[in-house]
Amino acid sequence: MNKHVVLLPGDGIGKEVMESARLVLEAVAERNGHHFTFEEKLIGGAAIDEMGDPLPRETVEAAEKADAVLLGAVGGPSWDHLPGSGRPEQGLLGIRKQLGLFANLRPVKGFRQLLHASPLKKEVVEGSDLLIVRELTGGLYFGEPQERSEDGEGVVDTLSYSRKEIERIVEQGFESARKRRKQLTSVDKANVLESSRMWREIVEEKRADYPDVKVDHMLVDAAAMKLVTDPTYFDVVVTENMFGDILSDEASVLTGSLGLLPSASLREDGTGLYEPVHGSAPDIAGEDKANPLAMILSAAMMLKHSFHMEKEAEHVEKAVQEVLDAGYHTADLSVVNGTELGCTDLTRKVIEQI
Ligand code: NAI
Ligand code: MG
Repeated sequence: MNKHVVLLPGDGIGKEVMESARLVLEAVAERNGHHFTFEEKLIGGAAIDEMGDPLPRETVEAAEKADAVLLGAVGGPSWDHLPGSGRPEQGLLGIRKQLGLFANLRPVKGFRQLLHASPLKKEVVEGSDLLIVRELTGGLYFGEPQERSEDGEGVVDTLSYSRKEIERIVEQGFESARKRRKQLTSVDKANVLESSRMWREIVEEKRADYPDVKVDHMLVDAAAMKLVTDPTYFDVVVTENMFGDILSDEASVLTGSLGLLPSASLREDGTGLYEPVHGSAPDIAGEDKANPLAMILSAAMMLKHSFHMEKEAEHVEKAVQEVLDAGYHTADLSVVNGTELGCTDLTRKVIEQI
């Protein structure tokens, strides 16, 4: 199959882990007789430096035409002085919005040899395998108004959703649950927020279409607690934008490292943008220390969700598992016994397995 992939490395370790993903995809293509073409574009701080805009138009145009988009990470201390609207993060928020990427899927699975890398007790995290489905283009991050009052003494953010926006993310939650262990937990704050009460009603309406999926509702504060006290309770969690942002970072401690967590952001036609959950890690950027596995696993999600290459995606996941089984890891997982490698050498190990 021929596929065209736009690469947005971004800033810091984004550039390093993107190179790993590209090499892995080339190995996958070679092994399976596919042909992938890659086109690199600017986003975030790199785009500000070269073009004065965190999201240049040509980046959006190239992404629109691609079969899928891979993104590294954006941001870093060199751009921290910039005002809100001109910051690297606007590149990320902007491309999600402009491509209509409404569903963010974040799988969290404890790799067994990393169980003791989690700060949580082994007995608690063992067997956890969950998927957070986060709404990505609505809610507090986009609602208007979002402003200071003229006298500077007040401020407002707005949490707004349309029925359609809630329906499509709830459907994504049900569809994901159907492909997994068929248990959907809808997380809201229905005791306080009107938007959450509507969310709950819509989940109740939709459950009739998915009789095979078991559904429960949980308040976000209770869910935050249960994620670290009883994580194996969860299969698929569906929730609004900000709750999902916070819960998915919380869930990342189950695996022991941010450097292992991939994500997919999908639009209604099934194309998507794939990126690691971590940021640009300025503290280790340029030192060949970054863990490339989150980015590589994001590329595997791209193979599965956008290209329907299930077998190829499994090859990549299996290669990652085998490399970890053999004891190879980057510095962020130094609690694991075995051999510490840099980003480049760990990537090479994954490619050897493929
Ligand atoms: P971060 O995720 O970049 O780093 C947090 C800690 O985890 C650091 O100690 C870092 O070295 C480590 N880490 C992260 N990814 C790693 C990897 N693949 N391998 C090894 N270690 C890894 O988050 P932080 O420090 O809060 O933010 C740094 C910059 O990244 C900021 O400018 C922030 O705005 C941006 N950021 C961007 C995101 C994105 O592009 N999606 C997401 C989160 C933060
Ligand atoms: Mg976040």
